[in-house]
Amino acid sequence: MTTAHGNDVAQPRTDWADFDFDTRQVHAGEYPDLNTGLRVPPIALSAGYVFDDFDDQVDRFAGRSIDPIYSRQGNPTNGVAEARLASLEGGVAAVAVSSGQAAISAALFTLAKGGDHIVSTASIYGGTRILFGRSFNRFGIDVDYVWDAEDDAEWERAIRPNTKAIYTETIPNPRNDVTDLARIAAVARRFNLPLVVDNTIGSPALIRPIEHGADIVVHSTTKFLTGHGAAVGGAIVDGGTFDWEAAESAGRAYPLITDVKPGLGSMVDRFGQGAYARAAREAVVNDIGPSLSPFNGFLLHQGMETLSLRMERHVASSLEIAAWLEQQPEVEAVDYAGLPSSPLYELAKRDYGLTAAGTGARTGSVFGVKVRGGVDGARAFVNGLRVFSRMTGIGDTRSMVIHPLTSTHATFAPEVNERLGITPGLLRLSVGLESPRDLIADLRAGLDRV
Ligand SMILES: Cc1ncc(COP(=O)(O)O)c(C=O)c1O
Repeated sequence: MTTAHGNDVAQPRTDWADFDFDTRQVHAGEYPDLNTGLRVPPIALSAGYVFDDFDDQVDRFAGRSIDPIYSRQGNPTNGVAEARLASLEGGVAAVAVSSGQAAISAALFTLAKGGDHIVSTASIYGGTRILFGRSFNRFGIDVDYVWDAEDDAEWERAIRPNTKAIYTETIPNPRNDVTDLARIAAVARRFNLPLVVDNTIGSPALIRPIEHGADIVVHSTTKFLTGHGAAVGGAIVDGGTFDWEAAESAGRAYPLITDVKPGLGSMVDRFGQGAYARAAREAVVNDIGPSLSPFNGFLLHQGMETLSLRMERHVASSLEIAAWLEQQPEVEAVDYAGLPSSPLYELAKRDYGLTAAGTGARTGSVFGVKVRGGVDGARAFVNGLRVFSRMTGIGDTRSMVIHPLTSTHATFAPEVNERLGITPGLLRLSVGLESPRDLIADLRAGLDRV
């Protein structure tokens, strides 16, 4: 490219595929704006897009052109976030939506309709369990749970001819009971089922589920990806790994992805490996309408620029705090798979690796601590905290605490909570980016009241 000064300069780079994670989190998805020179992709606050001419409008509405029609279906600011997240997760495409709950719903509605069935691992975010038990149930989509993911017989009993997906999470909260994704992926493959994994708490800086056999990844981007607790959002990532046509031949139909539209073909014909993401965008997100505000899309793509740096600090502080908590007389137990004392430590080490200091595995910063004295002990502890915020939320720069039994898990039957390990003295911590010394002093002050 020759500048106005006659200098021969290199074109701005747009393909970041072969770069390291830390480079891609800063650059992937950005587009050079040669008109204004803006370095940061701007917030494209426009509900719609101008058609080149009459026939361009006809082509866009007929699906012959994938240029955007309306921001419910796609937006350039969100497009930066989508391309960046797809790159970080190692997927082929992503769709940004308005919340994590919208991501889970849209991801699964693309696969299942009324009368269909989903199998999920039992230890998942409480809000997802509520979503499955209430709204999915009302729409006629049944969800059954597998309690022991290691037990092949339990999977075999749960999976039916009308099952359309297996659903799990990388690091379930509040118990930090990390999932053996490779094992669940093997079950999914055996039954020709796509594996959908919520990676909200792991984030692609710690684990990339597609590398462990997942086909689709969902996120509440509200948490670590956006990173600062300011914007609700969600995303679906298509790994491009699932063979939809082979599944259909084997008796599991995914009509939104494989049905042939006259004159256009199927989503697979048109979008190949990205067929699932396109179906989610066009046939579910655009229909139902949980699109992401470009303002939140901006905060998301900007937040991801520092993801790996923040996650290293979140993890190092969590490990220090979890190891300290374990030694305190007021503490009954700490549920943090990254601790060498955890029964899940070997799996945590295998899938998440060790911290730079080598003191434990990198299993995020959301974990459980059981204080003595049941609900009364929990109440006294929580009421004594001044740096940790008493609130629902995780994955923020700020540290937070909540009592799951009386909040996220308050609507579940006592026997379900007992089986999930949600005991009266259990608290969920989300360790932020404050100094671990200050956080430990705050926790000490809380424990002094127990
Ligand atoms: C693992 C997980 N998935 C999904 C969600 C829902 O996300 P959102 O609050 O953005 O709808 C949450 C929220 O806490 C979560 O922790």
